[in-house]
Amino acid sequence: MTPILDVQNLSIDYQSNGHPLHAVEDINFQVQKGRSLALVGESGCGKTTTMLSLLRLLPAEGRIIGGRILYRGTDLLRLSEREMRDYRWKKLAIVFQGAMNALNPVQRVSDQIAEAIMREPQITRKQALTRVGELIEIVGIPANRAQQYPHQFSGGMRQRAMIAMALACEPDVLIADEPTTALDVMIQAQILSLLQKLQRDLGLAVILVTHDLGVVAEVCDDVLVMYGGKVAEAGDVETIFNKPLHPYTQRLLQAFPDINRPGSTLASIAGHPPPLDDLPTGCRFEPRCHLSSEICKRIPPLALEHDAGHYVACHHVEQ
Ligand SMILES: Nc1ncnc2c1ncn2[C@@H]1O[C@H](COP(=O)(O)OP(=O)(O)O)[C@@H](O)[C@H]1O
Ligand SMILES: [Mg+2]
Repeated sequence: MTPILDVQNLSIDYQSNGHPLHAVEDINFQVQKGRSLALVGESGCGKTTTMLSLLRLLPAEGRIIGGRILYRGTDLLRLSEREMRDYRWKKLAIVFQGAMNALNPVQRVSDQIAEAIMREPQITRKQALTRVGELIEIVGIPANRAQQYPHQFSGGMRQRAMIAMALACEPDVLIADEPTTALDVMIQAQILSLLQKLQRDLGLAVILVTHDLGVVAEVCDDVLVMYGGKVAEAGDVETIFNKPLHPYTQRLLQAFPDINRPGSTLASIAGHPPPLDDLPTGCRFEPRCHLSSEICKRIPPLALEHDAGHYVACHHVEQ
């Protein structure tokens, strides 16, 4: 099956005082129609950078230095900014990290959703209002609440409003960057099940970005684990949960409590992802890895296909 999104050898730098910092290096992944991909890794691993690049919305200091982003076979990186406008929001849309706290406080939620709909220039005000009604129903905001202001909304409701805004121009790829961070556990589950519903009912391809591997087990089909701007491991959700091979994935899985065993302890992984101005020469996880050996210090491992569809970048995993 041809993927809806095919990201090939993508590398992204940030310019800092005239020096390039390699935030994302040579990553590959695919997203299939009607499926969901979880993009997982601790803070600072390059998740947001990767997602912003898909819509070509990197900040000014960010630059895509190589690779291709194929949307249904069209390389988005070769389009003019004008051509890109036919894709941004209309084909691919994003719920930005932290955006639910950035709603305009003095504008009614329904008007903010209407504005997102008007990104499509030929839409009339009347059509926009009808579409607002449909969208708030799709995302589960009660009709009588849509006229309220953001401060009258709970966190979960604000996140639903952000999802409605992302859906405004009927995209077929929806990216949600840490949509459940800062919400309590019950509300998290509701937002995740909303994303799952959208994937199923609207046939969306969903990319769920999270630092919490625990939240993806129930809702995602495929998993991409990033570490230090590179792919550590990728595969379908059963493989990643039942047969994780990269030491980083294994540690991530241990770090989150079993959802079936409430109260089980949360062991965090000692240390931090590497700073971009001091990346290790070899494997980026080497300084934190219990399997570290000579080759790990010298040579960055490639993400190789261990078995069908299961990619691992580790010198200690036999191919
Ligand atoms: N505008 C920027 N300028 C310079 N460095 C940045 C910028 N934005 C992010 N970074 C750096 O890029 C790396 C990846 O960041 P990010 O993509 O936000 O990671 P994540 O979303 O996984 O937490 C981090 O080291 C971060 O400090
Ligand atoms: Mg982020």
